[in-house]
Amino acid sequence: MALSVVHRTADPASIETPLLVLLAAKGAMPPSLTTLDAGLGGALARCWSSGDFTGARDDVALVYPSGRVARVLLIGLGPADEVTETELRRGAMIAGKRARTLGAPSAALLFVAEVAPRVAPERAGQVLAEGVPFGAWHFPDMKRPPESPKPLFERCDLLTPTNDVAFAAGVARGSAIAQGQVFTRGLQVLPGNSCTPAFLADTATDLAQRHGFDITVLDKAAIIKEGMLALMAVAQGSAVEPRFITLEYKGAPGAPVVLVGKGVTFDSGGISIKPAQSMEDMKYDMSGAAAVLGTFEVLGRLKPNIHVIGLIPATENMPSGTAVKPGDVVGSHFGKTIEVINTDAEGRLILADALSWARRYAPAAVIDCATLTGAIVIGLGHTASGLMGTDDALIAEILAAGERSGERTWPLPLWDEYRELIKSDIADVKNTGGRSAGSITAGWFLKEFVEGFPWAHLDIAGTAYTERETVTQVKGPTGTLVRLFAEFLLGRS
Ligand code: BES
Ligand code: MN
Ligand code: ZN
Repeated sequence: MALSVVHRTADPASIETPLLVLLAAKGAMPPSLTTLDAGLGGALARCWSSGDFTGARDDVALVYPSGRVARVLLIGLGPADEVTETELRRGAMIAGKRARTLGAPSAALLFVAEVAPRVAPERAGQVLAEGVPFGAWHFPDMKRPPESPKPLFERCDLLTPTNDVAFAAGVARGSAIAQGQVFTRGLQVLPGNSCTPAFLADTATDLAQRHGFDITVLDKAAIIKEGMLALMAVAQGSAVEPRFITLEYKGAPGAPVVLVGKGVTFDSGGISIKPAQSMEDMKYDMSGAAAVLGTFEVLGRLKPNIHVIGLIPATENMPSGTAVKPGDVVGSHFGKTIEVINTDAEGRLILADALSWARRYAPAAVIDCATLTGAIVIGLGHTASGLMGTDDALIAEILAAGERSGERTWPLPLWDEYRELIKSDIADVKNTGGRSAGSITAGWFLKEFVEGFPWAHLDIAGTAYTERETVTQVKGPTGTLVRLFAEFLLGRS
């Protein structure tokens, strides 16, 4: 059961909750909290005057007042004139995370506009509604259930002291986006033996049925029949069969935006096998696919006026007697031949066929997303996804959507010079370009299969999951790109 987040108007003097969350900018106690504090026996004023809480960014204090509020969680946002949507969302994430670990069954977050003078009410409502469930998310683990389980954190009311329809509209939107992101993270975290290509297809089918999308699933025979030879080259070594999933949401007539997500449900590297260290994290190699599915969950909930198609090539990458080998030359749906230098560069092979397939929709834009290269982690760390493409306006639009969503991207160039690195002696192109410019040569490889539409590529190898707990989330999947895609698509609707 997902955490439900709703807006309510509440007189601060009459709030009753097991956990009241207050976000506060740096400095003295906001005057608008005075009436509330009177009902709490002055606990807030005492907390501020003690100096225990200053409102610095990420500052946290827990107060046990007298009255109808069991606890108050204070979260610092930093200097008021620097509080952007991103700081507000971050504060809400910290609140959600702490609320869950405290074991509160429900919470109320009172938002007073003076803590974020630069943020419009609608945006404030949205980012708070995105943040709380994000921070509260944790893996539905597969352990034996404990004998006395903690109560689940099931409801969070976002309160404003007076009625605010713009804020309420933002909450409704943010809450739908949050549910899409929860959906994505739930898929990402599943182990490779649960989340197979067929499972991804079943999940997409269920999504389509719940929201009324069109869906087509190609099985192995159909994939071969359609000539998706690059996808088959990756799939041929695995005991589980591949799928090619197409979802369509038609909220408006006209050319669609096509989202393509890499769905490698486990990446062992194939014959060019990966080292054992952290290989288990390669269950996350379907994070692009999960982001696309989570975005459709958002589309189904918000029903914006836009036409969107989702394409997911799904397969495992495994070594075996039938696996593709280094040096093999394989065909592709596009028609170009590919020399497979390294079988661990499999994501670009399956995306190549999906990008080629996308031509049939005469798309307004195609955006692919993939945990594609370790090199992007070296270049950008875990802070931003890599962004490349053929269309400057599309790249600028994605960059802006990334800023608004708090899911940052950063551009890399696809200059002609880099094309040299993937020239093959015997085929049209080879699938790796050596150690230098690893993320760019992967992007260039994809570009070889792009024809007739504006295209951009997002490399999320560094942003799809975290290897340790952070201030805003548990260790594990981040659901990255659901918020970015939502901003992008709502911006176009
Ligand atoms: N799925 C990996 C990329 C990856 C690395 C994702 C780290 C998440 C964290 C991808 O399929 C891969 O193996 N890429 C190779 C390409 C190389 C062989 C040219 C890489 O980055 O090492
Ligand atoms: Mn790989
Ligand atoms: Zn991979």
